[in-house]
Amino acid sequence: MKHYTSINDIDNIDAWIDEAKIIKANPLKHLGLGQNKTLGLLFFNSSLRTRLSTQKAALNLGMNPIVMNVSGDAWGLEFEDGTVMNGNTAEHIKEAAAVVSQYCDIIAVRAFPTLTDKAKDESEQVMRAFMEYASVPIVNMESATGHPLQGLTDALTISEFKTKAKPKVVLSWAPHIKALPHAVANSFTQVMQKMDVEFVIANPEGYDLNPEIIGDTPIYHNQEEAFKDADFIYTKNWSSYEDYGKVINTDPNWMITKAKLGNAKFMHCLPVRRNVVVEDAVLDSNSAIVIEQANNRTYAAQLVLKKLLVNV
Ligand code: CP
Repeated sequence: MKHYTSINDIDNIDAWIDEAKIIKANPLKHLGLGQNKTLGLLFFNSSLRTRLSTQKAALNLGMNPIVMNVSGDAWGLEFEDGTVMNGNTAEHIKEAAAVVSQYCDIIAVRAFPTLTDKAKDESEQVMRAFMEYASVPIVNMESATGHPLQGLTDALTISEFKTKAKPKVVLSWAPHIKALPHAVANSFTQVMQKMDVEFVIANPEGYDLNPEIIGDTPIYHNQEEAFKDADFIYTKNWSSYEDYGKVINTDPNWMITKAKLGNAKFMHCLPVRRNVVVEDAVLDSNSAIVIEQANNRTYAAQLVLKKLLVNV
């Protein structure tokens, strides 16, 4: 594996989950693997879990992590070719990526979508530019259309908590006040399609994800119907894909409640807005596994870095 930028980079999800569990049981076993290697973490957007867990993963492998808030602290980056750079951008990605590659053995990047320019977001302009102009492996810490470190984490968490061979997993949209990206929902869908689970998606009309991501996955526009016999309810808000980036529904009836949850486990990538996306009674109950899920971010990242370190 040269880069980790998509769930499609996972060649065998069961083998990856097994290896992540081995790493979790003994996280410092490969402390020498990353010795004298540097991980650069570049954030164009905010983060708590990704920022800390990916650094923790690097430290567990003996790497030196260095972090930069690109949007606030670096020169404004230009991504278009041939631009006369007499505006707000002061440095082209061609130089920036090449320079950072000299300081870092692996570069991890977080860059959210515009949610106003569908074509630009789907082109994954930032992630692709780093892959093109950097000379070291690139890790996607959430891009315009995917969050593959989160998806790998979620697969590991479901594997740990499942109580039957083929659990039913529901990805449910829930209301939110802001327009949010599709990345988490996309990567979760893609990784569930690789696992041996019964997977369905519940969302209001107008909120179907990209048909190329959905594939054959059943879509329910009735949440109650989708939740029947669910073992895991994974909740996430996303803005409309059809009416791109718009909030066209804030119906509180889609919020996750204890009554709706039944015997299912509740998952969410966090951060989550209490009593908007999910009520307190769910998050404060034993049915919520969001803290354990967030803990697994470290081991998913560690597995990815371990696989990339073999080649640097
Ligand atoms: N789940 C997740 O990516 O969390 P952060 O945005 O805090 O990194």
